[in-house]
Amino acid sequence: ADVTFEEKYRPQYHYSPKINWMNDPNGLVYHQGTWHLYHQYNPFGTRWGYMSWNHATSTDLIHWEHRPVAIPYGQDEEEGIFSGSAVVDHTNSSGFGDGNGAPIVAVYTSAYGGEEPYQAQSLAYSTDGGITFTKYEGNPVLTFEDPNFRDPNVKWDAVNERWLMVVALPLQHKVQFYASDNLIDWEYLSDFGPAGATGGIWECPDLFPLAVDGDPDRIKWVLHVDMNPGAIAGGSGSQFFVGDWDGTRFTADPEFSEEDVIWADYGTDYYAAISWNNVPEDDGRRIMIGWMNNWDYANEIPTSPWRSAMSLPRTVELNEKNGKVWIIQQPVAELEQLRSGTSRIGRVSLNSNIEDAEISGKSYELLMEIDPGNSTLAGIKVRSGNGEETIIGYDSSTETVYADRSISGDVTFHESFVRTSRAPARLIDGKVRLRIFVDWSSVEIFINDGESVITKRIFPEPESTGIRFFADGGEAKFTNIEFHEIKSIWDN
Ligand code: FRU
Repeated sequence: ADVTFEEKYRPQYHYSPKINWMNDPNGLVYHQGTWHLYHQYNPFGTRWGYMSWNHATSTDLIHWEHRPVAIPYGQDEEEGIFSGSAVVDHTNSSGFGDGNGAPIVAVYTSAYGGEEPYQAQSLAYSTDGGITFTKYEGNPVLTFEDPNFRDPNVKWDAVNERWLMVVALPLQHKVQFYASDNLIDWEYLSDFGPAGATGGIWECPDLFPLAVDGDPDRIKWVLHVDMNPGAIAGGSGSQFFVGDWDGTRFTADPEFSEEDVIWADYGTDYYAAISWNNVPEDDGRRIMIGWMNNWDYANEIPTSPWRSAMSLPRTVELNEKNGKVWIIQQPVAELEQLRSGTSRIGRVSLNSNIEDAEISGKSYELLMEIDPGNSTLAGIKVRSGNGEETIIGYDSSTETVYADRSISGDVTFHESFVRTSRAPARLIDGKVRLRIFVDWSSVEIFINDGESVITKRIFPEPESTGIRFFADGGEAKFTNIEFHEIKSIWDN
């Protein structure tokens, strides 16, 4: 196929594969100046199947170069290469190195087919900087032949000087922890769960330490677990637990209960996010990327010749505000290099009416503060035109920011696609602050500098570029409005 990166709905500054099906990010690892992004991939079509790890690389987390499939589906053994992680084995603990620098070791789930399918954890290693991988001949390295046991996420445990794995037992709403000295032999440590939201299966866990407000004496551990279906926005979603790790066991702080789940994203389209390994200490960020889709309708979204995209890469931090520790997520600062055509707009005051903005576009970043005053709903309509619009607003009655895509464009490809999402949003000095990223087929809304996030796919006509402010049921003001066009990352 002739791929132009200008196809209808093609994300202009979000990663998508050239052609074919993609799901979860896998094996995120930084190695010698390169950010590796592997991902679940079907080399043979635009629907899920023949799971392989496809590959892209970047030097800035923004511009991606498409690379060949790194770990292909195993035809002979009917081995699906399911989700997992990758590490740089600096000490060659695995013995996979060839004496020419540290090997990159991928730890993934082998989903074996055949008469009695089961899932087990396996290894593949690369000695050419992550381009090609050799499967370890002793695979699988961790198995009890369970049909549902997957998504190993391995990190270096600097305190105990060993490898640490977190892996999911999806149907039991549990994760398990294992330790190893060589990535090959794994010792069971403990379980965590069921806890928090358990309305669907648990997948793709990730565990990492974060220093509250950057203070090395206040380390908390964050466990990120995906759940499908039954998440906050319907279908797939993911929750955070914050707690303590004693080297063997994870204990969540008591406020993480079924009633009070902290969702990584309150939108419909952020799943299976994991974080980059081996980020240099002088960078020090915890950076995650998620699959911008939802299993409820993922196989039906109306794009071709590819299907699915990644979210923006986001940093995750813990910040204490008003005596409470918040999980703060922000798009990586590298994104700002794509800004062009910046304009600032004077304050907009509306009283139960709607007004066209002087700006328009289909690939941009829009920042603003909304003082909802006595309005019931106040916000903006993006990708508007031809009777289409995606509505993003503050709802005073529920103290939430919402994103409504019911007339956003093509919504008919699946009955579950139309779903309004809502995120908790407090008013700070009477205002809510929004940072909205609009692309050819998505919106991402960072609320109050990352206190909560809403990510949603939309499929509007290319001509629907309008932006309109609105206030319902009273008066609202919009201030500090800043608009940046965003350049395409694809040079074509
Ligand atoms: C999550 C997931 C993982 C699995 C992979 C298979 O989206 O179901 O649990 O490893 O997708 O493609």
